[in-house]
Amino acid sequence: MADERVALQLVINGRLVRGDVEPRTLLAYYLRDELGLTGTHVGCDTSQCGACTVLLDGLAVKSCTVLAVQADGCRVTTVEGLASGGHLHPVQRAFQEEHGLQCGFCTPGAMMLAAWLVEQEPHADERAIREALDGLICRCTGYENIVRAIQRAQALSEASEEPGLQRAEGGRGR
Ligand code: FES
Ligand code: FES
Repeated sequence: MADERVALQLVINGRLVRGDVEPRTLLAYYLRDELGLTGTHVGCDTSQCGACTVLLDGLAVKSCTVLAVQADGCRVTTVEGLASGGHLHPVQRAFQEEHGLQCGFCTPGAMMLAAWLVEQEPHADERAIREALDGLICRCTGYENIVRAIQRAQALSEASEEPGLQRAEGGRGR
């Protein structure tokens, strides 16, 4: 027998979304399969790779570790929500400029983690950046360029007068 569906309401990339899901549905699959936001990648399903990272009320979280119903009433930002008004987010520009990707599979998660870090710790040094990347597995081992891209994003964000993407409300991501 199929699980009973549960109503939920979230703000995703600035847009109010109302829907219903089976209680067991993971946020990653709700975003991808029910909302078509396939920029959020699923690389392991076991909370290791970080490809599924999104912002949940400003916190970087692995969306394969969160039930969709746990996000009820929350703000969710996916990689599709980084750009605004036709302009790339500083993190996107930085990854482009520093070639912070190879195959691109981990890139949505890497950019969401970077967006969170730049917002939370705009002056994080290289060591802190590398520590923050601890939960991200890049199968192409493109870490050097990812670190450089985050450093570039820090500089671009500092030079930008645009407000931050979201104000985080707590500490480290899940
Ligand atoms: S798919 Fe979520 S951590 Fe790998
Ligand atoms: S760029 Fe290929 S997995 Fe990171």
